[in-house]
Amino acid sequence: MHAFPMNRRLSMPRIASLTPLLALAALLWICAANDVAADEPAAADPASNPAVPSDVERDVERARREARMLDDIYKHGIVAITDNFVNDLDMIPAGTAFKQVFAAAEQKGWHKVRLVDATGEPLNQENAPEDAFEKQAIKKLVSGESWVETIEDRGGTKHLRVATPIPVVLTKCVMCHDNYEGVPKGQAIGALTYIIPIDGPLVANPKK
Ligand code: HEC
Repeated sequence: MHAFPMNRRLSMPRIASLTPLLALAALLWICAANDVAADEPAAADPASNPAVPSDVERDVERARREARMLDDIYKHGIVAITDNFVNDLDMIPAGTAFKQVFAAAEQKGWHKVRLVDATGEPLNQENAPEDAFEKQAIKKLVSGESWVETIEDRGGTKHLRVATPIPVVLTKCVMCHDNYEGVPKGQAIGALTYIIPIDGPLVANPKK
């Protein structure tokens, strides 16, 4: 008769003293489960699975994305400024203003961009295609390609080089560049060329 109440009196404190331990065990179990979940994506091994891009491919793709983004921003900026502010020959051309922006980006070590001529008659000789990549890229852009790229070693690190076309987007362009007169719509008369570091700091001008 007395056994049941006696047991109860004994077992209640025992369970109470176990409660913090059980709570701790549950907490540890939850943490461990979370750890496993967090580790899972890293388990994919590029070497054993060709569908998973390697670090190099990812870095190159990131540089390409950067080039596409810069190209959109710079070109829209140049056109918006020309359209809204450049109304006669005495005004500072958007090209000149953007060359200052390009110089700042290069000096900060982000990337190197050049405004390059594709007509053979640049207003500023500094904008003539400079090296083998630019010369070849200009030929391809003039013949209708919309993106020319290569990966180049500069000072021991990889860089993505890209060239994209500039057509005569506004009739205003002809105001200063008479050689753009009569150029077919969409035809490249110039280019923006980019040097974007892939796996190290920007080497804008490697030592020869
Ligand atoms: C107000 C005059 C003016 C207008 C308008 C103008 N440009 Fe220019 N552009 C220049 C000058 C000056 C340079 C040389 C800038 C430099 O190197 O500092 C230049 C340079 C360039 C270059 C590099 C090749 C070269 O000739 O030196 C390209 C490409 C170019 N402009 C395209 C355009 C396009 C496209 C438009 C229309 C959206 C345009 N420009 C409107 C004056 C102008």
